Amino acid sequence: MATDLTNAPLPDEPANGSFVAHDAALERAERGVAALAAARSDRWYPTFHVASPGGWINDPNGLCFFGGRWHAFYQLHPFGTTWGPMHWGHASSADLAHWRTEPVALAPSLEAERDGVYSGSAVVGDDGVLNVVYTAHRWRDVRDETAGNLEVQCLATSRDGVRFEKRGVVIANPAGLRDFRDPKVWRQGDAWLAVVGRRAADGRGEIALFSSEDLRAWSYEGVVYRHPDPRVFMLECPDLFGLAAPDGERRWVLCFSAMGARAHGYRNRNFNNAGYLVGTWRPGATFEPQTDFLPLDWGQNFYAPQTLEAPDGRRILMGWMSPNGGPLPTQQDGWCGQLTVPRELSLAGDGTLRQEPARELETLWGPARELGPIELAANEELEVEKDAGVACVEATLDLSASTAERGGLKLHAAADGGYTYVAYDDQARRVVLDRQAARVGERGYRAAPVPASALATGELRLRVLLDRGSVEVFAGEGEQVLSVYSLPGAGPRAIRLVAEGGALRVSRLVVRRPRA
Ligand code: FRU
Repeated sequence: MATDLTNAPLPDEPANGSFVAHDAALERAERGVAALAAARSDRWYPTFHVASPGGWINDPNGLCFFGGRWHAFYQLHPFGTTWGPMHWGHASSADLAHWRTEPVALAPSLEAERDGVYSGSAVVGDDGVLNVVYTAHRWRDVRDETAGNLEVQCLATSRDGVRFEKRGVVIANPAGLRDFRDPKVWRQGDAWLAVVGRRAADGRGEIALFSSEDLRAWSYEGVVYRHPDPRVFMLECPDLFGLAAPDGERRWVLCFSAMGARAHGYRNRNFNNAGYLVGTWRPGATFEPQTDFLPLDWGQNFYAPQTLEAPDGRRILMGWMSPNGGPLPTQQDGWCGQLTVPRELSLAGDGTLRQEPARELETLWGPARELGPIELAANEELEVEKDAGVACVEATLDLSASTAERGGLKLHAAADGGYTYVAYDDQARRVVLDRQAARVGERGYRAAPVPASALATGELRLRVLLDRGSVEVFAGEGEQVLSVYSLPGAGPRAIRLVAEGGALRVSRLVVRRPRA
């Protein structure tokens, strides 16, 4: 019979005892990744996105700039291509564009994290040491996950950013709350602050604040935000940061990944949904939103983003391209899951976020091939690239000079008839990312509002990043983003322009291939 631990305090001693040596657990994880990588098929494996050489990954963790390099850790299951006991995988980059795989950073080894080292974040301490604060996860009953979990927050430190020493539980869970995870730590004045997502005793998703002077002893500072919808039971991966608005005022952005929200209209269509609020906040007060909860990304494959502050002050975000509940065909290929490219965040005049591909990504691409301007007659389809499976595409649709009901780009168009369609839909007045022609994987579509910049100018700018198995679309000045897996069949991957039910004018079309 399972013991009822609902109100049991977590005794520190056994929680910090090891059930296995960390080094041995890391070695085992490396062997797991290597075995999957050895048998991997690369037909959809990314060329410029962070992914594990083998195995399953989810959330970005511990994003930071440390020791002269960018670091992206991620949730990793090293022994299979489905979600499983979580480790921290690791990639690093000198330029935020080209990533290399580092050794697995964390494996479950303490009692408190027996069933997984879950998501968390990284900060560089006053002594120059890298500190990661993460969730230690245990099931109450490993045979029955519905019986809930016991989650506490742990610290690990590293001098070189590669090998970590565990420091054990630093934020306990005395009330035995069922979901309590994903600490995001930052420095504010003299204090370290952390937001942590949790399910309150009444079942409501909320975000709690903790403070510390030394990253080891933490005090509870109250609730920053409680979700207004009683169906929303957990706010995963919270993130809270200030950004300068164009009016010079500083606003606060609160990101979280909500579980339990119902779909309505074009919103909340994914299994769980990641988004943000912009508002006001100061330590000790609750967060007061000034916007609706807005999606960070309208695509099917986006979840659990995290940000970091770059040394030059830019706020950079990376998300997980989640399979959105369903199986992902790459699971047959020895891997599952990649992170989005890093994106730079800023606030637009209307108080909402803009996201642009990090400027460093420019170094990925070779010379521009200018293909425009192009006029398509009503119902015309035109192949503009025979084979551009990995590319950076910039297209400007001249909406004021077009009569098409829908028009745009068919991407990853393969011999089997499959493609992924990015289009402007004049009836819905939306930017559509449609996979109804997908030959494998999830179909369906998503539709983002037409960006304010396109309404103002009559021109819709689309910047598209194509990797072997994904499409990321930045619309307008980055007001709307859509990210999906796109898994083309064998052979060349063409790009076609399409005008449906009217003519289309493309005032600019530029394709760049990977720099040799
Ligand atoms: C979000 C999440 C986090 C958790 C991690 C476990 O995708 O569920 O809340 O820390 O993934 O892998």
